[in-house]
Amino acid sequence: MFNKADKTRRNRDGITLFDPSDFAGMHAAGALASQILDEIGVHVYPGQTTAVLDKFIQDQVEAAGAISATIGYKGYQHASCISINHVVCHGIPSDKRLKDGDILNIDVTVIVDGWYGDTSRMYVAGKPSRKAERLLDVTHESLMRAIDVVKPGNTFGDIGHAIQSFVEAERMSVVRDFCGHGLGHVFHAPPNVLHYGRAGTGPVLEEGMFFTIEPMVNLGRPETKVLADDWTAVTRDKSLSAQFEHSIGVTATGCEIFTLSKADRFHPTY
Ligand code: MF3
Ligand code: CO
Ligand code: CO
Repeated sequence: MFNKADKTRRNRDGITLFDPSDFAGMHAAGALASQILDEIGVHVYPGQTTAVLDKFIQDQVEAAGAISATIGYKGYQHASCISINHVVCHGIPSDKRLKDGDILNIDVTVIVDGWYGDTSRMYVAGKPSRKAERLLDVTHESLMRAIDVVKPGNTFGDIGHAIQSFVEAERMSVVRDFCGHGLGHVFHAPPNVLHYGRAGTGPVLEEGMFFTIEPMVNLGRPETKVLADDWTAVTRDKSLSAQFEHSIGVTATGCEIFTLSKADRFHPTY
């Protein structure tokens, strides 16, 4: 389908199909978000506050002449989400101090020349417990296995299946209440990218689709609840939760990752 008004090409599922020339803009946006996450790592240590981490991120976005996608988004007021331990996602930066052994996800989305780059990773303050380290490894591996199945002809159900089957075989659980999303010139577009599902189901992947994959994995049960601040999502059973997120684009033969770590620091411990 061709929409004459906005010149946007969409497939039958309402998913935008971008042109090969659009990949460069996404690479630029993804590179900035990823570079900021590369540089925040040295600032994560016991005693540090997440408000200071967020300020550093906001300063980096501004220094690059870019725009934070999260400041002002549905009333959110920070340049990052920082989600510690049993916080699943959308943790709000605050003056609370990190403790030795805390694991945290830092999620940054920037807009560069109108293109959105959205990525998150895990960090550790001090030394993680063995079970926390296992959670980080399984969550990271689940994202990479999902990215491995992305190519035209496979489906979004294949992505969800790759994550769910791996995570559950490791006796952990996949969060159902939040998902990945299309992106490009907007933050959140169709489709919802589910991190669970059955192989061969869902929309078919096509060249030119841009979306995130951002599995949240819990050591305990998958259920979450949102706190009274209307943002912070936590595990209902208070078990530890982890998340990694990449923004990717489907190519003729597979996909490109827009948010690769140029310093090779995507995983916190190897
Ligand atoms: N970056 C998050 C995502 O991966 C969205 C954060 S929205 C905010 O989709 F308002 F909480 F920042
Ligand atoms: Co996202
Ligand atoms: Co994100």
